[in-house]
Amino acid sequence: MKVVVIGGTGLIGSKLVNKLREQGHEAVAAAPNTGVNTLTGEGLAEVLKGASVVVDVSNSPSWEDAEVLKFFETSTRNLLTYEAAAGVKHHVALSVVGTDRLSESGYFRAKIAQEKLIQGSSIPYSIVHATQFFEFLKGLADISSDGNKVRLPHVLFQPMAAEDVAEAVGRVAVGAPVNGIVEVAGPEQFRVDELVRRRLAALKDPREVIADPNARYSGAKVTEKTLVPESDARLGEMRFETWLTQSAQRAA
Ligand SMILES: NC(=O)c1ccc[n+]([C@@H]2O[C@H](COP(=O)([O-])OP(=O)(O)OC[C@H]3O[C@@H](n4cnc5c(N)ncnc54)[C@H](OP(=O)(O)O)[C@@H]3O)[C@@H](O)[C@H]2O)c1
Repeated sequence: MKVVVIGGTGLIGSKLVNKLREQGHEAVAAAPNTGVNTLTGEGLAEVLKGASVVVDVSNSPSWEDAEVLKFFETSTRNLLTYEAAAGVKHHVALSVVGTDRLSESGYFRAKIAQEKLIQGSSIPYSIVHATQFFEFLKGLADISSDGNKVRLPHVLFQPMAAEDVAEAVGRVAVGAPVNGIVEVAGPEQFRVDELVRRRLAALKDPREVIADPNARYSGAKVTEKTLVPESDARLGEMRFETWLTQSAQRAA
């Protein structure tokens, strides 16, 4: 089966392309540096020829409110239009657990717009909602930093390894479209501030993490359960401590 992975050179995309190839599928990594640009439409008609499934794991280079909205709206519109013309049978997109509860955030308004376009199109689809990636914990500190202090809410979350995200997206991509949302999450729950503190300590990053009830997540107010999935979420296998050890070994 030909599966085109939009954003196939990124963190999740590159792992997903490898997994699909290992299973014997013709997985094609599509991104600007392979000649496919979803914002301009460049290369889309060509790469989608003969494709059964398109998996969109792209991300906007800029997270500024207007830029990120433009990215997800324009690229999703272009993708769906070209997919319809090419006869693609299944559109899969990666989004985030709790997206619909995070509309105060410019980034999440863009993800909501992406999901609405997919839900309103004629192409059968599956939207995978994943929790935060372990690999994103430092990035979360970066977007929550105020000088040397990182202010984060003391709320629950259930992050997961990028490897498990790619595994879950791959499983959905080769299955039948669900025309709805599938939630995936990590095997353990933590507090956001506590886990980011552990990640920064492991990186010997001197920033101080402060639990702040008024701190926002990516610009949005959150409550205890905003970031956690429903009880029927599929769980990844990789525990945080194992991932931390492995990522330290890789870095050494
Ligand atoms: N971070 C989290 O914790 C989290 C949690 C749940 C879901 N997600 C979702 O996961 C998705 C993937 O995230 P990621 O961290 O794997 O992203 P990433 O590593 O930043 O990769 C983004 C990919 O998108 C490609 N891309 C950028 N502009 C493009 C364009 N105009 N046309 C085609 N491709 C383009 C990039 O190609 P180049 O490298 O060539 O620019 C790259 O391959 C995102 O949609 C995000 O919302 C993230």
